Amino acid sequence: MKKYVLISIALFSAILFLNFNNTDNSQPAKTPASPEFSIPDDVQQIIDNSCYGCHNSDSKNKKGKMKLKFDELGDLKTHKLVGKLAKISEDIKEDEMPPKKFLKNYPESELTAEQKDLFINWAESTAKSLSE
Ligand code: HEC
Repeated sequence: MKKYVLISIALFSAILFLNFNNTDNSQPAKTPASPEFSIPDDVQQIIDNSCYGCHNSDSKNKKGKMKLKFDELGDLKTHKLVGKLAKISEDIKEDEMPPKKFLKNYPESELTAEQKDLFINWAESTAKSLSE
């Protein structure tokens, strides 16, 4: 009986070890919770220009970072991601984001009407397809 337990432990450890060493380093370590989610280049450009500085995982803007991290959006569970996308389109529609105070110092980050449309359409259509 004791022998059987020892063999099981050895086997279990071997499996763990193999699995551990099987990770392909060329892939990102985290598997996105919403793998079908991606940000197209034209939207990413707007984000980089007007949002990313406050909304990324290294941001010094603690409040902005806490609420939204564009580089980790795809790691959210689908229902959370859908919620964030809805918030994004809402805040853009209502001119809540980027913050007015910020735009006073960085007027070049203000979204044009075309950029708003593009951003809102993307957020809404992505939220919709994720909810289906
Ligand atoms: C100057 C920093 C800054 C910039 C630039 C900025 N934000 Fe924000 N954002 C914040 C802060 C701070 C909050 C939190 C506000 C609060 O809680 O009152 C926030 C909150 C949000 C929220 C609410 C998230 C939630 O779950 O409640 C959304 C959505 C958002 N921002 C989207 C954007 C988008 C889209 C852009 C670019 C068009 C942008 N932000 C640009 C600082 C910024």
